Amino acid sequence: MTHEYWEAETQRALAEEAAELGIEAFRRDEVIIVAGEVESEARRQAVEERITRQFPSVRVLNEIVVARMTEPAEVPDGALRVAAVGDVHMDQDVVGRYRPALASLAERADVLLLAGDLTRHGTPDEARCVATEFGGLDVPVIAVLGNHDYHSDAEADVTAILKEAGIEVLEGAGTVVSTGRGRIGVAGVKGFGGGFAGRCATAFGEPETKAFVHTAERSADSLAKALRALDCDVRVALTHYAPVPDTLHGEPLEIYPFLGSHLLGEAIDATGTDLAVHGHAHAGCERGTTPGGVRVRNVAHPVIRQAYSVFRVERQ
Ligand SMILES: [Fe+2]
Ligand SMILES: [Fe+2]
Repeated sequence: MTHEYWEAETQRALAEEAAELGIEAFRRDEVIIVAGEVESEARRQAVEERITRQFPSVRVLNEIVVARMTEPAEVPDGALRVAAVGDVHMDQDVVGRYRPALASLAERADVLLLAGDLTRHGTPDEARCVATEFGGLDVPVIAVLGNHDYHSDAEADVTAILKEAGIEVLEGAGTVVSTGRGRIGVAGVKGFGGGFAGRCATAFGEPETKAFVHTAERSADSLAKALRALDCDVRVALTHYAPVPDTLHGEPLEIYPFLGSHLLGEAIDATGTDLAVHGHAHAGCERGTTPGGVRVRNVAHPVIRQAYSVFRVERQ
């Protein structure tokens, strides 16, 4: 194997390992940089040890930080407030870490949105951890699944376990939370990749390429339909994949096509939406807007670095 192919192979193996561990990992010459958030110092060390074992010839630079699970320092005033977090990547070792910050959430928000990647590998066991952590709160909890939640081909079981715990799971559907101060409509899809205007995949050529693009199109269409159907005072779009590139700054440009699709942004702009919330881009940034001026927030836990964020949503 030539050195170049060996490099590519190592990069791929590293990416798989990182996805498995729920962290980011990059190779820069003879150094592997691992970054992201974990829930404890012990896990921070364990991740470093595992990467070092897998790639013994390369030095590992550990930039992982221990996650903060605190309540947001600032909570806006206002009639309608939406709390949100994504990419909580639950497993047994995370259970109990969010819960203290979620107690009496009703004092801070009217609803909690979970923006996908609720589990690490999409197993029913991990879904039960999500149910334990986010079930039975004092506000309605509304979720979409993320790509990780599909990994074990058990998304139907994952959805059923969450529903049983009272967590509403949206995929091409919407729901309305009625408060004394107004009705918050939430429509959700997982979404898909494909890239952004001018730099995106098109349904041309091989059937596999067409299937990829059609998946993104179908997802965006079902989001638009679900948003339009909401009878509410404020309209919120909940996705896992990003609807705009703004909130991806910090991610490598080369992977933008796997992080989101402008078709989701188009759906949001076409439907009088007031706020769009997504996850998936762990290394991205928090704030963006659609071309039509709708507020977009990346609430991936490694980005917001708190148990959840709260957004004030105004009636237009
Ligand atoms: Fe994630
Ligand atoms: Fe994801």
